[in-house]
Amino acid sequence: MSDIIAKLEKAKLLGRGGAAFPTHLKWQMVKDQKAETKYIVANGSEGEPATAKDAYIVEHYPELLIEGLSIALTTIDHSSAFIFLRRDYFKKYKTKLEKLIADLPIKVVAEKGGYLSGEETMVCQEIENGLLRPRHKPPFPGQAGIFGYPTLINNIETFYYVAQIAQGKYNNEKMYTISGDTKNPGVYELPTELSIKEILKQTNNYPTTDFFVQVGGGASGEILLAEELDKNAEGSGAIIVYDKKKTDPYILMDSWIKFFMAQNCDKCTPCREGTYRLAQMIKDKTIDKAIFDDLLFVLENTSFCALGKMVVTPFRSLADKILKL
Ligand SMILES: Cc1cc2nc3c(=O)[nH]c(=O)nc-3n(C[C@H](O)[C@H](O)[C@H](O)COP(=O)(O)O)c2cc1C
Ligand code: SF4
Repeated sequence: MSDIIAKLEKAKLLGRGGAAFPTHLKWQMVKDQKAETKYIVANGSEGEPATAKDAYIVEHYPELLIEGLSIALTTIDHSSAFIFLRRDYFKKYKTKLEKLIADLPIKVVAEKGGYLSGEETMVCQEIENGLLRPRHKPPFPGQAGIFGYPTLINNIETFYYVAQIAQGKYNNEKMYTISGDTKNPGVYELPTELSIKEILKQTNNYPTTDFFVQVGGGASGEILLAEELDKNAEGSGAIIVYDKKKTDPYILMDSWIKFFMAQNCDKCTPCREGTYRLAQMIKDKTIDKAIFDDLLFVLENTSFCALGKMVVTPFRSLADKILKL
């Protein structure tokens, strides 16, 4: 095991793109593959609503992103890298990043297809200029990614912490994006062990009125009540605060379902039809619990990619805890 991979393991670094996969395992897997070409991607697609941490890192600490990538380039033989950016980030940061990249083999590229673009097989498809549809997994990108070559895909925040770990400066922190009905929205870097309640209190965002939160993702996050905030903020670290009096749950669900319908790729029936049926129920404000549960079951268990499965958490938790269906 290389020195840096051992350090990533010791630091217990988990990927910050949402799935919290141990970073050292992914690096080791790509390193161990036998191939004459390998790729590395810093994923800055950041299409989830209410998430802005990758932009924050590129804005304030771009040199640490490049350092994290350059460590990966040294660790993984025969590799070159991409910084894969949301289109508005690409326009804003391309020149700044290219200056820092200098003659390292790193290319800054723009995504093509919105939220789904951040899904790792889509990242490979887009860099190859392929069809904008997710691929089957396995094989995982670490085995066969861009043009079939082993590809290490990590979130921008993950590379930022790789650089800190290499410098011996990592303090077990994570980025949280706080938004919604709150006094001090923004991106905060705080210890991973803090609970959601502590995060809201320490940032002076803990509400004084009746509220609930959505945690883990912008549209795909779980609804949690005030009494459930003693856990960590997982996923991409988004925390949205909703004032109970000001929030119409049907308007909220309508915004989520419009987002998922606009962002899915229509490749598979469960997600394409399931989101459409949910949208109809929400529009008519007539939720038949049995049909609602069936739709969520089918989305969760038969969607081709993770986007269809992600629809389930926000709707199920809101239906249980706020609508009390
Ligand atoms: C619909 C969808 C969107 C995603 N969007 C992003 C994204 O914007 N950025 C990201 O890093 N990972 C995103 N992911 C997760 C990636 O597939 C992948 O797990 C991640 O980039 C790996 O990085 P990590 O190991 O550092 O977490 C998304 C996944 C799905 C299913
Ligand atoms: S689950 Fe949705 S986004 Fe994923 S392949 Fe099916 S239609 Fe496309």
